[in-house]
Amino acid sequence: MNLIFLGAPGAGKGTLATQLGKEYEIPQISTGDIFRSAVKEGSELGRKVQGIMEKGELVPDALTVELVKERLTLQDVQNGYILDGFPRTIAQADALAAFQKIDMVINFKISDDVVIRRLSGRRVCRSCGAIYHVENMPPKVEGKCDKCGGELYTRDDDTIESIKNRLRVYKEQTEPLIAYYSGEGLLRDIDSATSPEHSLAQIKSLVK
Ligand code: AP5
Ligand code: MG
Repeated sequence: MNLIFLGAPGAGKGTLATQLGKEYEIPQISTGDIFRSAVKEGSELGRKVQGIMEKGELVPDALTVELVKERLTLQDVQNGYILDGFPRTIAQADALAAFQKIDMVINFKISDDVVIRRLSGRRVCRSCGAIYHVENMPPKVEGKCDKCGGELYTRDDDTIESIKNRLRVYKEQTEPLIAYYSGEGLLRDIDSATSPEHSLAQIKSLVK
């Protein structure tokens, strides 16, 4: 199964891609995670994208597409994959269609209010990337990852200005993909405003 998780920032794409990927033994490919590790390493790519990400703007299409193309040549995608946060523009979707066959696009439906609440309370593990929320999904020990003991931090783009800008960018550049994939007959909606367990059950009933 080649899947795309489509949805606003904070819709729960990363949380659910981790859970489904583990259960189905297919990789979660998050362009956001790839860019964040490049920033952490201080590589040339990292230096290029750091400022763009902090503001909540999109990294240029050509750069992003090239990166995904390369990632999809690795052996671990043989039985399928989950694209989390890619494509995000019509140009990216067209480029992807030229070299991959997508089986289904899961559209995470959510309101702006819930997004703002979720992103304002999000914490991420600096070592393994596990995602928490101070109220909804708190770690057992404050500030420490349950899985690896790593330090939890707040992403640089989880400031209120950047969240608002990401929502605006999503509406302008990514939301048109709903009609795009609906036209291809690939789009399936889930209600993402409920618990992660309920979101997972909805996705599993679609992906059977
Ligand atoms: P990216 O990392 O993809 O960020 P995003 O799209 O803004 O999405 P998020 O990761 O913020 O949200 P999510 O849907 O994964 O939610 P999560 O599961 O964490 O991209 C970052 C940046 O990189 C972009 O702004 C851009 O600059 C660049 N970039 C990336 N891809 C690009 C591309 N293709 N083209 C160009 N630029 C690109 O959940 C959020 C919170 O809610 C967590 O705290 C979680 O614990 C909590 N939560 C999740 N689900 C639930 C639930 N069901 N109930 C209660 N709480 C929940
Ligand atoms: Mg994410």
